[in-house]
Amino acid sequence: MHINELQRRLVERYPLRQEIIRLAKRDIAITVVVDPDQFLDDLSREEINGALRLPYWAYLWPSSIALARHLDQMETLESQRVLEIGCGFGLAGIAASLGGGRVMFTDYEKDALLFAQYNALQNRCTEGASFVQMDWNASCFNGRFTRILAADVVYEEKNWKPILALIQKHLAVGGTAIIAEPNRANADGFFDLLTHRGFTSEEFGYTALLEEDPSTITVYCVRREE
Ligand SMILES: C[S@@+](CC[C@H](N)C(=O)[O-])C[C@H]1O[C@@H](n2cnc3c(N)ncnc32)[C@H](O)[C@@H]1O
Repeated sequence: MHINELQRRLVERYPLRQEIIRLAKRDIAITVVVDPDQFLDDLSREEINGALRLPYWAYLWPSSIALARHLDQMETLESQRVLEIGCGFGLAGIAASLGGGRVMFTDYEKDALLFAQYNALQNRCTEGASFVQMDWNASCFNGRFTRILAADVVYEEKNWKPILALIQKHLAVGGTAIIAEPNRANADGFFDLLTHRGFTSEEFGYTALLEEDPSTITVYCVRREE
């Protein structure tokens, strides 16, 4: 979709503002929703099992800033196949794309993907990029990726096994899943599960600043042994 058409659709639905995320090598402009709390009622949905699905995609999370910083500083991604799950506004995937990766941005929310695509276009990083609506409980493509990115997606235990299964299915041998987590005690079990399944991980600590509010984030680089 052309950038003007994307902008028209977003402006029609949401008040917008721009965040500039300053990384060591570059700045990234991210268009976000102004005061997403005002849309909570409109955007929340009841799932088939009666659980409430909250519109977490409409917030920019500090984990994605930490993941973008990590990718900017630590990763060489030239021509690598990269998958981002739960991409929200797309910040981490955009950092990967600007580093040379060919990124598939995925989220189960259509509007998140509109923002991710708009943000990718405004940062001129659409080379090899695709935007796919996907529930991580049922991946809708084949193939493996040398990097799988995930910022703040293991906050609920029900998501651990599906995300783990997705990593097992789609991470190439020798590849890395790079997962940013804001040190929630209730996410520890996910990383224990990964270790149990034979993955090894290296941890990097970051402080991410969002609206002058600092958060500490751990970025886990998770590898599957050959
Ligand atoms: C806490 S937000 C993080 C968004 C973004 N990664 C960030 O850090 O700013 C979680 C994201 O996961 C997406 N998500 C939640 N459940 C999902 C599922 N079952 N399949 C795919 N995406 C999902 C949400 O729509 C949301 O964009």
